[in-house]
Amino acid sequence: MRRPIIAGNWKMYKTIQDAVDIAVALKRKFYTFSEADIIIGPPFTALAKVHDVIIDSSIMLAAQDMYWEAEGAFTGEISPMMLKDAGCRYVIIGHSERRHIFGETDEEVNKKVRAVLKHGMVPIICVGEKLDERDNGMMFEVLEKQLSRGLKDMAAEDVMRIVIAYEPVWAIGTGRTATPQQAQEAHEFIRNYIERLYGKETASKIRIQYGGSVKPGNIAQLMAQEDIDGALVGGASLDVNSFVEIINNAVL
Ligand code: 13P
Repeated sequence: MRRPIIAGNWKMYKTIQDAVDIAVALKRKFYTFSEADIIIGPPFTALAKVHDVIIDSSIMLAAQDMYWEAEGAFTGEISPMMLKDAGCRYVIIGHSERRHIFGETDEEVNKKVRAVLKHGMVPIICVGEKLDERDNGMMFEVLEKQLSRGLKDMAAEDVMRIVIAYEPVWAIGTGRTATPQQAQEAHEFIRNYIERLYGKETASKIRIQYGGSVKPGNIAQLMAQEDIDGALVGGASLDVNSFVEIINNAVL
């Protein structure tokens, strides 16, 4: 049985104080919570302060991106060592906004994923097709390419530890969620791909989140699908009440 994993990606929102306030409110609700892993991903500036709040609770911290080198002359970048130091347990890698706005490639995703694992954190690797790719019947091809390049040269025991987030680009921030059936179809494809390459055990253990307009009203139906193990929530994670409701509805 895979443990549900609900993560909030706060993107480029929230001051340090706002982030701390949300963390305090979430901690009150989920100080101890055994039914799911709860993860929040504030902007870099708020990571350490948010960690101070949640340190003794069941809530875990994620960063939204990372450079692969441990340290060095890389102006403007942030390293795995620094994220670990700030209290991060997870790092979101290859989010569609990074791929499409900042031109991040699958090769860079692969380097980042390996660096996250090397430093003892867990990567949440985002994959997903654009609308024209789906409309042109290329969804599976796109997913396979992102997975094969993103996971290149990784061993099954590493792949077992990672989290994959299926985030169809057309469903992100658009209010247009994939139907539970559309999401399940993609998740099943991803799990089968992992099984083909890394074996049955890895495929049965790896957790696959859905992301794209997840709301309190649609999370339960998504979670009811066999291969959907959690959610990566954007907009609805910025509001305490809706994120709390999503978590509660996810484990109903
Ligand atoms: P929304 O939930 O706002 O659609 O964003 C999804 C997302 O990009 C999470 O990483």
